Amino acid sequence: MKTLFSGVQPSGIPTIGNYIGAYQQFAALQHEYDSYFCIVDQHAITIPQDRLKLRENTKKLAAIYLASGLDPDKITLFIQSEVAAHAKAAWMLQCVGYIGELERMTQYKDKARQHSQKDGISVGLLTYPSLMAADILIYGAHVVPVGEDQGQHLELTRDLADRFNLKYNDILTVPEVKHPEYGGRIMSLNDPARKMSKSDDNQKGYISLLDDPKAAAKKIRSAVTDSGTEIKYDKEEKPGISNLLTIYSSLSDQNIDSLVEDYAGKSYGEFKTDLGGVVETFLSDFQSRVNDYLESGKLDDILDAGAERASRKADKMVTKMERAMGLGRKKR
Ligand code: TYM
Repeated sequence: MKTLFSGVQPSGIPTIGNYIGAYQQFAALQHEYDSYFCIVDQHAITIPQDRLKLRENTKKLAAIYLASGLDPDKITLFIQSEVAAHAKAAWMLQCVGYIGELERMTQYKDKARQHSQKDGISVGLLTYPSLMAADILIYGAHVVPVGEDQGQHLELTRDLADRFNLKYNDILTVPEVKHPEYGGRIMSLNDPARKMSKSDDNQKGYISLLDDPKAAAKKIRSAVTDSGTEIKYDKEEKPGISNLLTIYSSLSDQNIDSLVEDYAGKSYGEFKTDLGGVVETFLSDFQSRVNDYLESGKLDDILDAGAERASRKADKMVTKMERAMGLGRKKR
């Protein structure tokens, strides 16, 4: 069975963009692969975090993963900092990567711009993709389901794996990226030219998975739409409506074409009211599953077992990488 790896940062509560771009794929793929899902808390500290909030979000993120339909008996769910192999491999991969290629990452450039005045740019922000490559490569992952914004990091991961294999020993699997057919890039509700993000300063731009469902419906009703009146899917001419159609289709059983047919001749207002209802119902159901997990007392056991299983697999690859690079004594 092939291996799948993916991760989400506990830097805030995930949005419906994260759900559609990532979690929905996870649930669909979990049975086809030996699947590892990680709460990447070491990635989150590349920008300043409140210690207590980070811990709280880490726990909530575990519940959110499971509420998305992941079966804890089938998959391995764990916290990155609880598996030492990630940081070990990240260091080795930092020594394989070049500063120039890290400086070219658009996420680095965006975040460096945001944080340079406020709190400075941490070294971790620059070397973040080496840690992400480590996450993936130590499990020998064949496939990595992510939203489109992570495509560049995945390309770098593939380059690092190739370079390591060429320079040292041919031991790393070069992973394939998997984006959803639609919804790989859900846009902000108040600016369809920008990606929906959980760290957006303007709360009207995103819907968090733990937002009050009624307030979320209201955000949909006040989402920015395009000029004209026709409801059709056209990302260039109608980025606002196309984004809402993608959200609607992802959270319901209807595909985009049949939604466009249903709403022919109807107004933006009617469409947004209906979508608000879909989002409200989705969030209510989702949050009741999240709360069940948070109250179940099962999360710690699931995460403990996950860290143990993940370590068992990842330690083997780290040892191989260390041998290939000549670290430590040759094992007898
Ligand atoms: P993060 O935490 O920013 O996002 C988690 C997942 O959600 C996807 N995503 C989106 N999809 C659609 N529309 C959006 N607006 C949107 N925003 C985010 C992301 O693409 C991602 O799949 N660096 C990663 C976490 C990570 C990781 C890994 C992922 C660390 N190591 C190894 C895969 C494999 C990140 O910051 O994701």
